[in-house]
Amino acid sequence: MKNLIKFDAYPKTEEELNIKTISGATVTLVSSLIIFILFVNELHLYLTPHLKQNLVVDFSQGGVVVINLDLDFPRLKCSELHIDALDISGSQQLGIRNNLYLDNLDINGEVVDPKGSKNKVELGSNDENDNEHEAEKDKEKENKLPDDYCGDCYGAPSTKPSGCCNTCQDIKEAYEAKNWNFANSIGKFEQCIREGITTIRQFRQQTNEDPIIEDPRNVGCRVNGYLSVNKVRGNFHIAPGKASQQGRSHLHRLSTSTDKSKLNLTHIIKKISFGQDFPGVINPLTDHYHLQSHLGPKMFQYFIKLVPTLYHQKDTKTTIKTNQYSVYEYSRDLQQTSSSGLPGIFFIYDFSPIMVEIVEEKKSFFHFVTQLFGLLGGIYSISSLIDNLLFRSLNSFQKKIELGKIY
Ligand SMILES: *[C@@H]1O[C@H](CO)[C@@H](O)[C@H](O)[C@H]1NC(C)=O
Repeated sequence: MKNLIKFDAYPKTEEELNIKTISGATVTLVSSLIIFILFVNELHLYLTPHLKQNLVVDFSQGGVVVINLDLDFPRLKCSELHIDALDISGSQQLGIRNNLYLDNLDINGEVVDPKGSKNKVELGSNDENDNEHEAEKDKEKENKLPDDYCGDCYGAPSTKPSGCCNTCQDIKEAYEAKNWNFANSIGKFEQCIREGITTIRQFRQQTNEDPIIEDPRNVGCRVNGYLSVNKVRGNFHIAPGKASQQGRSHLHRLSTSTDKSKLNLTHIIKKISFGQDFPGVINPLTDHYHLQSHLGPKMFQYFIKLVPTLYHQKDTKTTIKTNQYSVYEYSRDLQQTSSSGLPGIFFIYDFSPIMVEIVEEKKSFFHFVTQLFGLLGGIYSISSLIDNLLFRSLNSFQKKIELGKIY
């Protein structure tokens, strides 16, 4: 036992020889405070995962990207708005309604209450009944025609395989495919006259082109949901008017009740993301809005560069395959310049060949403990040094006063 005592690196002084001083107490308090602050900081660093980012070439081929949309058009009715997605591979999705919810908005930007839409459905079903009667009448009329009847399409190529335009509707389709004005010459078409149609208004009433009677409160539209697109360069757009494709050009036909010069394409983007969100993701188009200060057709273009991203989560051991993006915005007034263009909001996206791989890394517990001990020991030795210095200088100061050297 006696031999073991020799190894004690911490010789202790007798309790009564220790002196407690005010300066010592101050140093202890201050150093405890510093230890506490540094400890909290260290713990925070330990608990937050460290993100390691690698850049790699994206070798994944093809696939589908989900575009999440949540945006408001305060002055564009849902019935006028059409959503289309086109891409470089030639695939087209026109008039997308799948997986998208369109809600009518009133003048204050609130969703028009669903009770109103119930009325609408009832009105709609009445119209359907009328439609059936109409269809029966149409059949009767058609029955009177000779079997080999082939109506003239008045210069437009027929959209029917027979090459004929036997009904007013057929002519309308043929004219629309040519982008000719059907409404102006409706009184000249014998098929239409036979069906008792001489004005576009009658045509609409008979064919129920707009079967849903618009709630007068509807002024805006909320678009919410997602689109699936191929992982190649492409664009999707939200534009007034029904889309059609003619050769290489993409057209939107505004409904006749829409006045181009009164368009207000103000839009509020609450969120647009290309794939799942991951911790720390920044979607630059979140809460982005564009107010149109004067009415008229305008083309808004958002050029989006997508960076494919893989996020490896440590806790759940899952990998999120998603995309980040940067965006450049450009808008053009279509009324002032004679340049071509469609009024609407266009999102033109492209994928970068470089992919970002983000790996969550947690620090080791032992590393944290080592760090903590280093912290405690370091502060302890520095504070005792300061305490010593203070004690000595105060002591000598006091002695000088006692000797009468300082007054
Ligand atoms: C377009 O609509 C927005 C949103 O309601 C409105 O703030 C803006 O004043 C409108 N623009 C014009 C020119 O009326």
